[in-house]
Amino acid sequence: MRRRPLIAGNWKMNKTPQETQEFIESYLAASSEHRDCDVLLIPPFTSLDRASRLLSGTNLLLGAQDVHSAASGAYTGAISVGMLKACGCVFVLAGHSERRHVFGDSDDAVNDKLKAILGNDLFPILCVGETLEEREGERTSSVLNQQLAGGLKDISEQALESIVIAYEPVWAIGTGKTATPEQAQATIAYVRHWIEIHFSRQASDAMRILYGGSVKPSNARSLQNQPDIDGALIGGASLDPDSFAQIIDEAMSPSGEDKVC
Ligand code: 13P
Repeated sequence: MRRRPLIAGNWKMNKTPQETQEFIESYLAASSEHRDCDVLLIPPFTSLDRASRLLSGTNLLLGAQDVHSAASGAYTGAISVGMLKACGCVFVLAGHSERRHVFGDSDDAVNDKLKAILGNDLFPILCVGETLEEREGERTSSVLNQQLAGGLKDISEQALESIVIAYEPVWAIGTGKTATPEQAQATIAYVRHWIEIHFSRQASDAMRILYGGSVKPSNARSLQNQPDIDGALIGGASLDPDSFAQIIDEAMSPSGEDKVC
């Protein structure tokens, strides 16, 4: 089955609305149009409204980095899915490793967020991944089992069609240490197999699974060439419009070795 690639830039806590505007204007001026992949920008909450206006009429998609599971109420500092939808978001991250490890999001909380996102007809990107200590202790599969079972608890096979999974090994995030294409492929194949066992072969064949962790122009192609990798979730290298555009060009170029940049 052919799955449509998704390439997303997660800006984390970077860029004011003005800087967001500058990025989008330069990106749109510089990038080539790739009709055969989805491109997604995930700026901070405060830039969503400005980004949404600038992206209207383009084929770039807008997403948010996190959400609260409640629809409204006394949750100081929180943002609901309805608010994100009103700002033009289509995708929402749930369970990014920084949310899990810095802010303490549990698998139950991630599951609640996922359900709230689906309940508002938006598309969740469920992030999973192990720490260095867990990988070295050979606990990668048990960590993934727990994050997948917890995050996808009580999700129907039909709802699963709206979900994207991002495998982001914590040890590769912002460290410059990328998983090798073979390591990323092996772990993502494991995640796909998990979906097959717990849902169906059809669901696992259709599931888009992204890799994230120090993706850059020089490694994007060899990662994307792996059979189970359907795109990238990019942090640092998505902050510069030229670098983000180059990653997309590399990932979407025909199979071959990485270009030496
Ligand atoms: P880096 O690309 O900076 O390693 O970040 C990856 C990430 O966390 C994207 O969500």
